[in-house]
Amino acid sequence: MEIEVKRGAIQEEQTELILVNLFQGVTDPGGATGSVNKALDGQIGDLIAAGDFKGKLNETAVLYTRGAMPAKRVLLVGLGKQDEFDLDKVRQVAGTAARKVRSLGLTRYATIVHGAGAAGLEPVQAAQALAEGTHLSQYRFTQHQTEKDENGGETELEKVSVVVFDQELVEVVREGVWAGEHIAAAVALTRDLTNQPANFATPTVLADEARRMAKTYGLKFRAFGPADMRQLGMGALLGVAQGSEQEPRFIVLEHNPKEADGAPIVLVGKGLTFDSGGISLKPAENMHHMKGDMAGGATVMGTMQALAALKVPHPVVGLIPSTENLPSGTAYKPGDVLKAITGKTIEVINTDAEGRLILADALGYAQRYSPRAVIDLATLTGACVVALGTVAAGLFSTDDDLAARIEAASQATNEKVWRMPLWKEYAEQLKSDVADLKNSGGRPAGAITAAMFLSKFADEMPWAHIDIAGVSATDKDSPYQPKGATGFGVRLLTQLLRDWQ
Ligand code: BES
Ligand code: MN
Ligand code: ZN
Repeated sequence: MEIEVKRGAIQEEQTELILVNLFQGVTDPGGATGSVNKALDGQIGDLIAAGDFKGKLNETAVLYTRGAMPAKRVLLVGLGKQDEFDLDKVRQVAGTAARKVRSLGLTRYATIVHGAGAAGLEPVQAAQALAEGTHLSQYRFTQHQTEKDENGGETELEKVSVVVFDQELVEVVREGVWAGEHIAAAVALTRDLTNQPANFATPTVLADEARRMAKTYGLKFRAFGPADMRQLGMGALLGVAQGSEQEPRFIVLEHNPKEADGAPIVLVGKGLTFDSGGISLKPAENMHHMKGDMAGGATVMGTMQALAALKVPHPVVGLIPSTENLPSGTAYKPGDVLKAITGKTIEVINTDAEGRLILADALGYAQRYSPRAVIDLATLTGACVVALGTVAAGLFSTDDDLAARIEAASQATNEKVWRMPLWKEYAEQLKSDVADLKNSGGRPAGAITAAMFLSKFADEMPWAHIDIAGVSATDKDSPYQPKGATGFGVRLLTQLLRDWQ
């Protein structure tokens, strides 16, 4: 789908449908909606007066222009209450409208920038949100479906024209749309990798995808195999990997802009391409979801792509430890002791607590960059899903400044995070009788003890951990988030790094 930005009056557009909007409670529309209402001889006003359109968020109505305008149809979308309007509502209404247009079997339409008028949002941000919502709503993962969807699902939107009335705003809107398109493409990459079944997305395939992406976007790429890992002393990652026939990979992506200043920010993503639990085998019921246990790694890949595409002027490194976790005759076992890259020894209590093991080596490796900050993302614990559900990710940090930056980016993107404590009392649960620490602290405070475990490998680095177990996939459609992988974190991290000063 192409999004073009042009100057004009929307009611004059030659296209299949024009899209305008309305706040809840408005009886006499102004702006572009007012112009369209006038051209339609007050039809929108009639709809409101009759109580047939209230302007509720994501409400839609289709009107027919009967020759009053070049376009045959007008789609009206509700913006909800004006005092509750924000950038996420822009993403939502853009997504709702794009889905509606697709369900009508149409391929092109013209839209205004929701929120840049009466709502008073920054036009560049509203335009970015418009592009994000539009693209993200159209995402589908159909690669493995050989029979076409019967519900009009075959049509693809081809062209969306964003029509801007003020000449001075055209370039600003173009800039916002440009950013939104790159960010949405990065989210789509992350969703694709996360949705991809484990027989297609093995650690080597993940590394190949990273290599291909790095080449296209101008990032530096490296991938370590088992021999390199042994040399580096990554005994925790190797321990998890030893039960699988698939070779592990440790992927390194580097964004080094010319004007790069100082130490990099390191992003770490859990890349478990399949987590069966290993010898501590998971129940069968939901095990298939564990093909998505590399969502953190996929988010780091998507974010690195976005940073390169948007030419973010800070050095950033992406680290993705990737392996399967399977039971076999060679698999690691409960009671085994592993030595991580930092020299710390770990008693394996539960082979299903594997994410923290591979992240331990990645965090240890991150130390060689003396980074300005390290942020890891991981589908780490079921306990985090119990605590925060599918609404928010868990945020853990040893650095208040870093946590505040992440919270600000979370607000802007509506990728919700909620900070949880790392009080030292929790570390008691990780004490081992045979090694430096154990990999499971049992059920109480499971998300926190997992984060505490990671903190032991982050040492003095300013560090944050985001547990995305509850938010990396969804089982229901929403305006710009179809069922399946969400790509959570790409927008959050990209916002964070674009805003970094
Ligand atoms: N990948 C899982 C966590 C998970 C659970 C992600 C549900 C997404 C949805 C992780 O490796 C795991 O198995 N964690 C264990 C830790 C426990 C054994 C200490 C868990 O949460 O049960
Ligand atoms: Mn596990
Ligand atoms: Zn896992």
